[in-house]
Amino acid sequence: MTNALFNDNRVKLGVMAFNCSHGSTVTTADGVWTMTWEENLDLARMVDAAGLEALLPVGRWKGYGGETNFNNRTFETLTWAAAMAAITHYSTIFATVHAPLIHPVAAAKMAVTIDHVSAGRFALNLVAGWFKNEFDMFGHALAPHDQRYEYAAEWLSLVKKLWSADAEFDFDGAFFKGKGLWSEPKPLQSPRPPIMNAGSSATGHAFSARHADMNFAMLRQQTADSDRAQIARLKGMAADLGRTSQCWIHVYVVCRETEKEARDYLHHYVVEKGDDQAVANMIDIFGTQSATLSDDVLEAFKFHFKAGFGGYPLVGTAEQIVAGIERLSDLGVDGLLISWVDYLNECRQWIDQVLPLMEQAGLRKAFPG
Ligand SMILES: Cc1cc2nc3c(=O)[nH]c(=O)nc-3n(C[C@H](O)[C@H](O)[C@H](O)COP(=O)(O)O)c2cc1C
Repeated sequence: MTNALFNDNRVKLGVMAFNCSHGSTVTTADGVWTMTWEENLDLARMVDAAGLEALLPVGRWKGYGGETNFNNRTFETLTWAAAMAAITHYSTIFATVHAPLIHPVAAAKMAVTIDHVSAGRFALNLVAGWFKNEFDMFGHALAPHDQRYEYAAEWLSLVKKLWSADAEFDFDGAFFKGKGLWSEPKPLQSPRPPIMNAGSSATGHAFSARHADMNFAMLRQQTADSDRAQIARLKGMAADLGRTSQCWIHVYVVCRETEKEARDYLHHYVVEKGDDQAVANMIDIFGTQSATLSDDVLEAFKFHFKAGFGGYPLVGTAEQIVAGIERLSDLGVDGLLISWVDYLNECRQWIDQVLPLMEQAGLRKAFPG
């Protein structure tokens, strides 16, 4: 079976962040995601049965404070992915791995284990790290920004070698050294499981272009033309290296019978019930420890951070949402990773109301099941 990430649907879909309390919504509104294992199972089964392409966990070790202590409760993503792999049949199961926090020899083997449990449906979302407070828990200093990506590149080259080498080898890198390295079995997927990266600085983009099959982009959302140019630049950088890179983005979704209802609910959970302190902490950390967004863009992004961790809004009726997806597809977006306030009910609604309209619009084929 080809990994679902490479099927021929024009717009691929996944659900993200449901391994974390509050998912991606920084709000005290009723019905937010408390995050239990039972809910994770129910949601994963629903998504998988509907033929969505991806389940993606956020790699998070500590909350952001504030009233919500957003993302304070999280399931670790490799063990989460192994369990998800065992109860699903179609969707690609990601794990999000911080390169500096898991040794590549261990990570390569964990990834292969999940690839076998899932019969070849594993994918790796490799992140370089940016949240100092969680690195402090490991006694790790967060390396200078660009060095994080040199480290991640060497980490990945060692993992790929472990996935492919048919004889023991020694490794003598700048960051890793080892003798008689070996890993069996190999991944089921050939040549290897897909790799995603969410680097969004210039260095992060260069890393994605060289090493990843998909960039998980943070669109700046200033104008459609600038978003189009951002995606074209990302794909162009990969093409210059003879590679193909998909562009995936995070979308936060509010779908209601009328546009007014959707906008009112968005206003309720973001403006009336948003946790400003958690977002202030997030922006402070993200602004100073990553090199992604300038201060003025970060300020404008406060709303998007509260509404959906900096994602892109899809708000309105099912028809309006599908029109919005067509616009994103025209910009060059290949895949959407979705979050909602109330994952179980709103995902069911997406499957019942939005998915059929996407099929009618030619954005996706019906899933045979
Ligand atoms: C949509 C999206 C999802 C991300 N998910 C994670 C995550 O799960 N864990 C994490 O530590 N960082 C995550 N990041 C942060 C990125 O890996 C990256 O560090 C950040 O975008 C800053 O870019 P830079 O490292 O190129 O400066 C995410 C970023 C984006 C845009």
